[in-house]
Amino acid sequence: MRVPFVDLIKQYHNIKSEIDQAIQDVLENAAFIGGPGVKAFEDSFAHMHKAKFCIGTSSGTDSIHLILWSLGLRPGHEVIVPVNTFIATAEAVSLTGAKPIFVDHDPQSFNIDISKIQDAINENTKAIIPVHLYGQPADMDSIMDIAKKHDLMVVEDCCQAHLAEYNHQKVGTFGRAGAFSFFCAKNLGAFGEGGAVVTNDEDLYNQMRQRHNHGTLQRYIHGLAGHNYRLEGIQAAVLNVKMKYIEKWTKLRHRNADFYRKFLANIPEINLPEEIPGAKHVYHLFVIRARNRDDLREYLEEREVSSGLHYPVPLHLQEAYSQLGYKQGDFPIAESYAEEILSLPMFPELTVEQIAYVSDIIREFYQK
Ligand SMILES: Cc1ncc(COP(=O)(O)O)c(C=O)c1O
Repeated sequence: MRVPFVDLIKQYHNIKSEIDQAIQDVLENAAFIGGPGVKAFEDSFAHMHKAKFCIGTSSGTDSIHLILWSLGLRPGHEVIVPVNTFIATAEAVSLTGAKPIFVDHDPQSFNIDISKIQDAINENTKAIIPVHLYGQPADMDSIMDIAKKHDLMVVEDCCQAHLAEYNHQKVGTFGRAGAFSFFCAKNLGAFGEGGAVVTNDEDLYNQMRQRHNHGTLQRYIHGLAGHNYRLEGIQAAVLNVKMKYIEKWTKLRHRNADFYRKFLANIPEINLPEEIPGAKHVYHLFVIRARNRDDLREYLEEREVSSGLHYPVPLHLQEAYSQLGYKQGDFPIAESYAEEILSLPMFPELTVEQIAYVSDIIREFYQK
């Protein structure tokens, strides 16, 4: 049985008629940039978050950069970033000229280790970017407390956490703004690239609204130097259809996580992901820790099961960030976990038979 890591073709076929019609409407109206589809999407995404404002953007990376730039981050500033995240979180900081300062992750949640944030703060620190990694919210109560105490801005990286909640509040609404990615394989994915920012801060919204379209006040009149961060009409049309299904798909991700937990119970060589109290995990990824990870991964691959590594090299050891001067041993949790983590197939259309098949192979591998 073949088990892909995600199955975007199956998802498309399940909603094909609606998607085809939505794209056809964009083509017939040539509403490629902006237009009613983008506006409708922004309104419903803001509403879903109980947030005042949403702006559709070109990607998650651009969303984080748009927020940081609009908040005034610049050279000389420092921003705290978890060391275990996709590089885009740190890149968005670098693009402003500010410096990313890494912090190790918590062994249970895989999110930023709250107890280690304090040591990373100095007089240049301006912001913290918690990443709700794999779909599990970071401990926002503690992060907001630290930020308040040190007068820091909080910008949430929600690129893996659509609809995730912390104490019944949607992620993206705790700090100054939240950044989302609609990269095709995300829980809410466009047909290519896309993103959004949400905020309740009107001044920040106005800055971001201008900057996201070249600082345009009216056609060819520019109040600010901005950039092109616009969400395309075709992507908004796809997202408007998928928004109707996102709650159902999130429930299916939970169901799939429950099946994995049941079928993978009592295998001493692996650790299953833990759900943190107060956090509603949305299982963008189902990440286990596994002994002999690389051999297990190969064993799965030979049996047509795809898996992933999120992430094989922590950011402080990436060549791209060698100039920051970090070294092996600086972040022991991230370094040791990088050798053990394995992301199993996880998507709403995954069947119970596929989950049982993957789980049986893992059990068989350790019984050999
Ligand atoms: C945690 C995190 N931050 C940022 C991004 C960047 O999003 P995008 O690929 O849409 O630029 C991603 C996407 O993979 C991500 O997983």
